[in-house]
Amino acid sequence: MPAGGRTAPLDKGVGQIRLLTGCAGLALILATSAWAAAEPRLSALIWTAPGHEVAALTRQPAMCSKAKADDADVLIGEALFNAPMLLGGQAARADISCASCHSNGRRNPHFRLEGVSAGPGTADVSSSFFSPARANGRFDPKPIPDLAYPGRISRAPTTGDLERFLRGLIVEEFSGREPSRSALSALAAYVSAIGDCGAVQEQPRRLADQVLLVRLSVMAAGRLIASGETETAAIAVAGARHQLGLIDERYAGASLDRERGQLLAASRALQPIAQSRAPDPAELQRWLAGFDRVLVPLLRRSEARSLYSEARAVRRVRQD
Ligand code: HEC
Repeated sequence: MPAGGRTAPLDKGVGQIRLLTGCAGLALILATSAWAAAEPRLSALIWTAPGHEVAALTRQPAMCSKAKADDADVLIGEALFNAPMLLGGQAARADISCASCHSNGRRNPHFRLEGVSAGPGTADVSSSFFSPARANGRFDPKPIPDLAYPGRISRAPTTGDLERFLRGLIVEEFSGREPSRSALSALAAYVSAIGDCGAVQEQPRRLADQVLLVRLSVMAAGRLIASGETETAAIAVAGARHQLGLIDERYAGASLDRERGQLLAASRALQPIAQSRAPDPAELQRWLAGFDRVLVPLLRRSEARSLYSEARAVRRVRQD
């Protein structure tokens, strides 16, 4: 028997103890089901092909942006690309965003969802799972394209083809709400900026990636509010909360209670800003300053004990 096989029952025992200690937080769990028990589900695994779990949790395609680092449209587009609320219906409920299939803007070779995929890395975007209205009644999954390379849809900024395609995708394929013109142009700017990194095809998945997406989403929301786009800003704020939830999932176990408590508090503090009719960008700035000063250093200190650690991710996958 391999050494790993021998440790599995022990790991299971630890899992049970964690489950029991998780009962202490039951009230909290009931209050917000998304912030589940001490061993919450890892949402990405819902749409990961069996056998691909460790790779999906620990690595991602490398992306090198073709845009300038401070391009505001690209920043807003990236925030929306990672926000499940941009999509409607089942996709949003399952926490699926554009990035679930186009990992880091590229291609998720591990994606597999029952009824939507044939093999790993394929999806039928006109499936009734996403949109009963648009469903074409045929099961025809296609390989998920890598958006770093030219495809069927022209990326030329003058034609408007990409914006039209993206609108159809959001509203018709994924039953999302009608996006504003500026949301579409931001998304198109991000998609057009996606580049590969030459020889480097993969990079690890770390806490820093999620932290960057939280920051980016909150900054995007601030800019959107300033330009009167409150509905799109709410999608970006929900996107920031989604990223905090993804961090929370990885900080599993009783020894990381403090981290999870602070993540929950930070996420709750964002909620009223998203729901306000006249949100104040200054509040988002204050939130971001607190996030950077208090929460990020706390999370960094315990990253090695979280499921961002490859060894821990491997153990967890074996346990599930
Ligand atoms: C469930 C997986 C999935 C999700 C979610 C998804 N896509 Fe795709 N995407 C695909 C597949 C599969 C294709 C290829 C469809 C085809 O060839 O008919 C595709 C095609 C595309 C293309 C066309 C590429 C080309 O030029 O040929 C773009 C651009 C794109 N997606 C962007 C997005 C954006 C932006 C979002 C979010 C609004 C998104 N996708 C969400 C799976 C997905």
